[in-house]
Amino acid sequence: MTQDELKKKAAEAALEYVKGVTLLGIGTGSTVNHFIELLADLKGDIEGTVSSSEGSTKRLKELGIPVLDLNAAGELEIYVDGADEVNPHFQMVKGGGGALTREKIIAGASRKFLCIADESKYVPVLGKFPLPVEVIPMARSYVAREMVKLGGQPQWRENYVTDNGNHILDVHNLEILDPPALERTINNIPGVVTVGIFALRPADIVLLGSPDGIRALK
Ligand code: 5RP
Repeated sequence: MTQDELKKKAAEAALEYVKGVTLLGIGTGSTVNHFIELLADLKGDIEGTVSSSEGSTKRLKELGIPVLDLNAAGELEIYVDGADEVNPHFQMVKGGGGALTREKIIAGASRKFLCIADESKYVPVLGKFPLPVEVIPMARSYVAREMVKLGGQPQWRENYVTDNGNHILDVHNLEILDPPALERTINNIPGVVTVGIFALRPADIVLLGSPDGIRALK
């Protein structure tokens, strides 16, 4: 099976968790794109979604699924999103698709976080995937120097601007042994908007697509 087929399997399994849910958050990425396609069948039950990116918003609207502003929606029942890496504590690295800031906001505003991924994303230690850090453009070089002090090798994601008008540094070679501590440390650097470590608010359920079926970790 291809990686994309495994992503689709995880997305299919997620449908079970959103049956009867009227208000949900929607992440960003190729796994979530499968989920959005499948969600169209349940759209009669859905009062609204809150989307984490312009890309997901466009897909939702094209399928006739209502998209709300988070300020109007209030607390969400469940947030469904992918991950670039997830560890056995359900802590994640996210932001490969650049939507980390809105993803973290919606994760915080949701009662449950359902992470969907193919099994290759399940890792013992976070950090092999370059860690995305969204920064205010004028702070890019300064934050990059701070990342070097932390042992990483930052690379500017050139020709890319986030939905919030900011830049992204992809930080290579970090072995993230204490994800909540590193999340706090990087969050506290002036100019950092969001770091792609999702440890202070980890996932609640992880669905991993594998050739043998779905591994549901709870
Ligand atoms: C986007 C993300 C995605 O969840 C992450 O990049 C996984 O993407 P995919 O489902 O395409 O593998 O954090 O900002």
